Amino acid sequence: MAELATAKGPTVGTKGLEGIIAANSEICFIDGKEGRLLYEGYNIHELADQSTFEEVCYLLWYGALPKKDQLEKLDQQLRGERAMYPEVMAFLRSAPKDAVPMTVLRTAVSMLALYDKDAEDMSLEANLRKAIRLTAQTSTILAAFHRIRNGQEPVTPNPKLAHAANFLYMLRGTEPNEVEARCVDLILILHADHSLNASTFAGRVIASTLADMHSAATGAIGGLKGPLHGGANQRVLETLAEIGDVSKVEGYVKGTIAKGGKIMGFGHRVYKTEDPRAVHLREWAKSLAERTGNSKWYDMSVEMERIVKEEKQISVNVDFYSATVQLCLGIPADLFTCIFAASRMAGWTAHVIEQQKNNRLIRPLAEYTGPAERKYVPIVQR
Ligand SMILES: CC(C)(COP(=O)(O)OP(=O)(O)OC[C@H]1O[C@@H](n2cnc3c(N)ncnc32)[C@H](O)[C@@H]1OP(=O)(O)O)[C@@H](O)C(=O)NCCC(=O)NCCS
Repeated sequence: MAELATAKGPTVGTKGLEGIIAANSEICFIDGKEGRLLYEGYNIHELADQSTFEEVCYLLWYGALPKKDQLEKLDQQLRGERAMYPEVMAFLRSAPKDAVPMTVLRTAVSMLALYDKDAEDMSLEANLRKAIRLTAQTSTILAAFHRIRNGQEPVTPNPKLAHAANFLYMLRGTEPNEVEARCVDLILILHADHSLNASTFAGRVIASTLADMHSAATGAIGGLKGPLHGGANQRVLETLAEIGDVSKVEGYVKGTIAKGGKIMGFGHRVYKTEDPRAVHLREWAKSLAERTGNSKWYDMSVEMERIVKEEKQISVNVDFYSATVQLCLGIPADLFTCIFAASRMAGWTAHVIEQQKNNRLIRPLAEYTGPAERKYVPIVQR
């Protein structure tokens, strides 16, 4: 083996690339020790309290907060791109009703490239147009599939509604109240970007080959689907449902940890303290749970947080309280990860734009751990 170990780069990689800097990026800053998150230099707490998803999209794509007319223009563009190609709608109607929604979303986003006039244009202007279009279309796809699988007709987007409110409208067929719309808006803001997380990295690797934005977005959706990444929020709700009562939380947590299992919604590769996004989601989970008569879920969550901290000194991540928030909004658990994707589409596309503005192929090395060169033995002699 030693004679083949010649392909070492300047840094020997750690398992899971932990601690390795793999790109330069101006989009998102994370301080894992202090629990700080900035989008383009703006603190997530200020964005969560004062901004909208549309404004955050502008920030991620153009690198600065928009002026009023710039935001109005982007808002109009997003509203104008919500309609779905008939062929993709036909696919949504033909997909198995029990299909995993993230699988449907991944396939549909890939399909969008077939009908997007800018699909193979990698210019900055075309990439910006595609970022807007993909972000608008993702919400339409997942709302339409959800209705179709329940035997309902998809709802035509309402151009009078802002992005978050229109998403809830397309999902349920009735206009949401202000609190509900603001809550979805907040979820979208909080999930919009997170530096080189696994799905974004996957998307950037694809973009670095100068493949198109739809390919990168499709790969990123695949990356987000896994339970160690975006799939955790759905698992949080399933875990709470399995536990069933606040009195059983302690037994579940201790039993899972004793078996070396993971508690979904806890832990993070980068944050060694509380995930700053969780602060907002915890507050919203509390108030929405009280408002909607779902306090049981919130109480179980608080108890789980206390015990996991006590037992493993691990904090909650973005996925933990977002599960209760979405439950209170009446969103089914298997759409949670899709909503994460609908938000992260803004970040993924921003990273594709950034990567292709100043591209170099991402092509790392592997530390070879296989056998030394061997003599090929013809099959009859083995
Ligand atoms: C996010 C995650 C994959 C990051 O993992 P990582 O950086 O690779 O860290 P590891 O999985 O190597 O975990 C390090 C240690 O913390 C423990 N740990 C990490 N997350 C844990 C969790 N959710 N529950 C219980 N223990 C956990 C590991 O068991 C390990 O403990 P040990 O050193 O005693 O063996 C991991 O925390 C996890 O699996 N969390 C649950 C899934 C989740 O919520 N994902 C969404 C992330 S936003």
